[in-house]
Amino acid sequence: MSYRLPGDKSKALLDQGLPSLRDGLSYQRRAASSAEKGYAAPAQMIVGRAEGDFVWDVDDNRYIDLQNGWATNPLGNCHPEIIEAVHQAHLQYGFQWEHPLRIPAAEKIASLMPGGALPRFSFEVSGTEAAESAIHLALCHTGRRYMISFTSCFHGEGLGTKMVSAYDSQKNIYMEAWSGGVLKAPYPYSDNIPAGMTQDQYVEYCLWYLETHLTEYVVPAENIAGIIVEPGLAEGGNWIPTTEFIQGIRRICDKYDWVMIVDEVLTGLGRTGTMWSIDQYDVVPDILVVGKNLSGGIEPCAGVAARNDILGDNPRASGGSTFAGTPAGCAAALKTIEIFERDNILAHAAMLGSLASSRMSTWEQRYDIVAQVRTHGLLMGVAFRDPEGVSEDYYFARSVRDAMLRRGVWAICDNEPQVRMYPALNMAPDVLSKALDLMEESIDQVQREGVSIGDYPPMPSGNVGF
Ligand SMILES: Cc1ncc(COP(=O)(O)O)c(C=O)c1O
Repeated sequence: MSYRLPGDKSKALLDQGLPSLRDGLSYQRRAASSAEKGYAAPAQMIVGRAEGDFVWDVDDNRYIDLQNGWATNPLGNCHPEIIEAVHQAHLQYGFQWEHPLRIPAAEKIASLMPGGALPRFSFEVSGTEAAESAIHLALCHTGRRYMISFTSCFHGEGLGTKMVSAYDSQKNIYMEAWSGGVLKAPYPYSDNIPAGMTQDQYVEYCLWYLETHLTEYVVPAENIAGIIVEPGLAEGGNWIPTTEFIQGIRRICDKYDWVMIVDEVLTGLGRTGTMWSIDQYDVVPDILVVGKNLSGGIEPCAGVAARNDILGDNPRASGGSTFAGTPAGCAAALKTIEIFERDNILAHAAMLGSLASSRMSTWEQRYDIVAQVRTHGLLMGVAFRDPEGVSEDYYFARSVRDAMLRRGVWAICDNEPQVRMYPALNMAPDVLSKALDLMEESIDQVQREGVSIGDYPPMPSGNVGF
């Protein structure tokens, strides 16, 4: 089976969006860039409807959904119980700020926090706002001026989060000079290891950079408020750092009295097989940022959980914009967590993670174009490379993602040489197995036939996944 993509209705919508959407031109630009190099136009589709583990495009082609609303639908698409809870909240409250649901929702979220140590919660609308709020809290709590963030990491699309993110320098073009209070440190991502260093040596170097280089040569430790870190790279490539690195950050934060912020917007609420990715490091952060899955895939809900002394007594730190913690958002969060507990979703996610990891375990050996298989719970991905070193690695990833889509599996390949996958945490095991079979067929095809898509370089202005 191979879909002809974009289908007629998707194509008509893409054309209709050309003059009005912010990234309306992105598909045509990519198609033109691919054609210039003699390759096909990339596959593209627009979702017509969604249910459970699947989406259908407007041309009625069905796909197994590994894109998952950019990892926001932990219980699959359009979960009926969450829709019902959200609907009831809409009927009862419409939109109000002073509604009662935010109290049990905050209590419930706090009860899930690592070590029970982050009892206070501040609602925000999006992961972006939550990450910005966390940084503001840390600055106001410490009365210090600098924040450390990491290369390869992504924290959002607000002005502040663009400043601390560093997974693509193009994203910060024209704003570089605004990030005066941000110290960017290397993240020991396996894709960036300097020549000749082992992974362990690179971790040691990254920790030395934080503990010694920054504090002795750049900014005194007593003027640094804290560190914001992803305990599992998400947008940067679905890659998990070592225990030494994350525990090292905790040790350095304790030594200098820095606030440790973990951004679990994508890794949180079960994505890596435990409630929080940080749970796997035996580390308790001072602030934890949550979003995406908390919405149940239905209604935005995000926020910041923090130590009592950081959030409870911090009159300078404001947060929570108009639509933060709406009745419907809180209802979605409460229902999502209820289903997590009732249906033992974490155990199911961990089981699916093991299934994926054993199914994909031979791919690095079997396919020259596979650089690294990444599975950590359901934070899944495959990094690609050009075995001949002639073409951009990115083309291989794009070609595999393209071949998958034409076979009916929807995954992400944005601006990186990886295909990333975020199955729902309650996906049926046979559906996940089928998706991985089709992915392997796609890898095999690209390995044999070579690159088919050349839509590079990507522009930072829009998601290539549409
Ligand atoms: C780790 C991380 N932090 C923050 C964000 C921003 O969240 P949102 O898109 O909900 O604003 C994202 C989004 O992908 C993310 O992956």
